[in-house]
Amino acid sequence: MSRKLRNILVCAGPTQEKLDPVRYLSNHSSGKMGYALAQAAKKYGHVVLVSGPTALKAPQNCKFIPVVTAREMEKEMLKQFPKADLTIMVAAVADYRPETVARQKIKKTADTLILRLVKNPDILKKLGERKKNNQILVGFAAETQNALAYGRKKLAEKNLDWIVVNNVAKKGIGFGAEENEAVLLSRGGKTIPFAKQDKKRLAAKLLELIARKMDLT
Ligand code: CTP
Repeated sequence: MSRKLRNILVCAGPTQEKLDPVRYLSNHSSGKMGYALAQAAKKYGHVVLVSGPTALKAPQNCKFIPVVTAREMEKEMLKQFPKADLTIMVAAVADYRPETVARQKIKKTADTLILRLVKNPDILKKLGERKKNNQILVGFAAETQNALAYGRKKLAEKNLDWIVVNNVAKKGIGFGAEENEAVLLSRGGKTIPFAKQDKKRLAAKLLELIARKMDLT
């Protein structure tokens, strides 16, 4: 028997980790893949989009929750997760943040400056630990080498149902690009490649496949 997806939670964009009043550490995530997934997900249910800072407009008719840091993202995701039937975590979370945030602008003095960073929470791993049997959890893996092997490892370690593996070192796809190329890995050992295409098209295809395979449409 099929069941209709009701609540879909998408987490997108980069996080910004404050260093002093004028600087932060971040990454090249544009949020495009995540926003495309949120847009495509509206077909299957009510969408909540938790997003780090991006230049994109929030998709209409979804609940939009802006966040800045990994810890803010973690707080919102843990709050929203219990209500979600399907959760897709595509955010490029900064793995580390500065240990201390300088109250005043850091002035230039010596020729070298050493920053001490501390680990941020692994949000997806925490969601995997809390996942109930009726919840579906999808992650992304941004890799520059041995993409499939690392992807499989993350799928298992974070207790995911699916992982979308990207080679972010390839030109024209991944961070900031309009297009992406991916391989979808399933918990059951399936490997499904998706050719290079527009992120919006890819998002629609990924969701269609996940919904169909899980008998959710
Ligand atoms: N992720 C997360 N919290 C983090 C880091 C990653 O929730 N602190 C999520 C990402 O949103 C993605 C998945 O975990 O869905 C894999 O992220 P990725 O950056 O590929 O891998 P990491 O787990 O950070 O491992 P590594 O950086 O060592 O490759």
